[in-house]
Amino acid sequence: DTPELLDRFGRVARDLRVSITEKCSLRCTYCMPEEGLPAIPRERLLSADEIVRLVAVAVHRLGVREVRFTGGEPLMRRDLEQIVAGCARAVPGIPLAVTTNAVGLAHRARALAEAGLTRVNISLDSVDRARFARLTRRDRLDSVLDGIRAAKAAGFAPVKVNAVLMPQTLDGAAALLAWCLDEGVQLRFIEQMPLDADHEWARANMVPAQRLLDVLSARFALTEVGREDPSAPAERWAVDGGPATVGIIASVTRSFCSDCDRTRLTSEGTVRSCLFSDRETDLRAALRGGANDDELAALWRGAMWNKWAGHGIDAADFTPPQRSMGAIGG
Ligand code: GTP
Ligand code: 5AD
Ligand code: SF4
Repeated sequence: DTPELLDRFGRVARDLRVSITEKCSLRCTYCMPEEGLPAIPRERLLSADEIVRLVAVAVHRLGVREVRFTGGEPLMRRDLEQIVAGCARAVPGIPLAVTTNAVGLAHRARALAEAGLTRVNISLDSVDRARFARLTRRDRLDSVLDGIRAAKAAGFAPVKVNAVLMPQTLDGAAALLAWCLDEGVQLRFIEQMPLDADHEWARANMVPAQRLLDVLSARFALTEVGREDPSAPAERWAVDGGPATVGIIASVTRSFCSDCDRTRLTSEGTVRSCLFSDRETDLRAALRGGANDDELAALWRGAMWNKWAGHGIDAADFTPPQRSMGAIGG
């Protein structure tokens, strides 16, 4: 009889996303400012042991059923392997995934698999070197491609690739899909959300899912196959009769907030009930002040109860959250 993470709208959060750092090896324009995010003093960051403790509370006391580590870039933490191994021991049987840009992953994929990581999703917007460098402000495409191949070799399956749709990359969408089909990885396109650090997002500049579908349909036969599960962000289409699929995460034009099952922990140990929350609940102070698991669980439940109905991007008075995507982790 685990008490669940419920909100006022009857949703239950079973999917925990843990941001473990705000540092990143890339500087994607829709996510990070050119100079990166201000460094968080070390003592404010959750330690590996603290992350493991909170993940255990979420699973054993709050009904969480899967855990994903995000950033910034989670590989920027040298102790990612320890975090994964600690969680694998503390919450056996719970899927442990990572969302990464794959820079440097080639050297760590095997150790991560051995530590107990079960899945990796990799962000990649273009397989054209010059274009990749422009989008990410770093010339690291080769490292990313090595990382994708190492993830497959380490046995992660399926490997999913996430691509944020931008007007300047729409003409490369079909080529990216062809590349992913060749490599045997599952591509998902993401509608850009107003979570860029520079607050330059504008609906008029964003590529809606329908436009992408029109572009892809010129080259591939697409058949709708639905979501992996009801709370999954991605809708999927079989490509040229399948079994390969392409996904679209249409957060803006086909929002899925009413089925949301996500709860988030920031690298500083606060609970965010939604990507777009305007407030967070501090668990770190309670944890360091000696709170027991029941007390931590009660704080977490309180934080989720007040989750908003949805992101509110369409509202006239919408204001983007203080934290950019780089500081929430996607
Ligand atoms: P899988 O279990 O592999 O399907 O993972 P996932 O799709 O839940 O995780 P991933 O980190 O790959 O998420 C891909 C993208 O979906 C993120 O980068 C976000 O852009 C978007 N996304 C994930 N969760 C949410 C959410 O709660 N709300 C919104 N609006 N978008 C989300
Ligand atoms: N809108 C949608 N997705 C974004 N991501 C980063 N910024 C945005 C944004 N503004 C995605 C990245 C990566 C994940 C961590 O978040 O592409 O897949
Ligand atoms: Fe859930 Fe908020 Fe994402 Fe909507 S925007 S799906 S409510 S986390």
